[in-house]
Amino acid sequence: MRLSIGIICFLTCLIACSISKKMTNTTLIYPDKSDSLAGLDIVKRSDCVTCHKVEEKLIGPSFTDIAKKYALNDTNMDKLSSKIINGGNGSWGRIPMTPHPSISVEIVKSILKYIFSLKKQNQ
Ligand code: HEC
Repeated sequence: MRLSIGIICFLTCLIACSISKKMTNTTLIYPDKSDSLAGLDIVKRSDCVTCHKVEEKLIGPSFTDIAKKYALNDTNMDKLSSKIINGGNGSWGRIPMTPHPSISVEIVKSILKYIFSLKKQNQ
């Protein structure tokens, strides 16, 4: 009896350890970069939310307004990706967005997929 409790405790520890290991891994590697949920996750972890909110304008336009303004196609995906990476202004006003050179194009595209997923919900 004692032995089986011991084994259960041991197994629980093993599972708990492997889960926490998995969690620390996901902060560095995004397994499914094409998923819009992964995009949302990255938005929450990066500085985007300092200037953007989902519904309301902050320093930058709301993500919902961005989704409304642009059609989802390759040209706009490329244009918006390079805007996020290189920064700049002129599309919404004179306040510039800071550049994000450390974010890869693939990750930026999954962020954009998240932003464009707001379009569906609001139409
Ligand atoms: C320092 C504030 C700031 C931060 C941080 C910021 N943005 Fe922006 N963002 C802006 C501003 C201001 C604009 C409007 C720029 C313009 O008028 O062209 C903007 C515009 C955008 C646009 C629309 C670009 C266009 O040309 O229409 C997207 C998409 C966007 N931001 C995504 C992001 C994402 C994703 C992040 C995080 C990686 C982020 N922003 C971080 C301020 C910010």
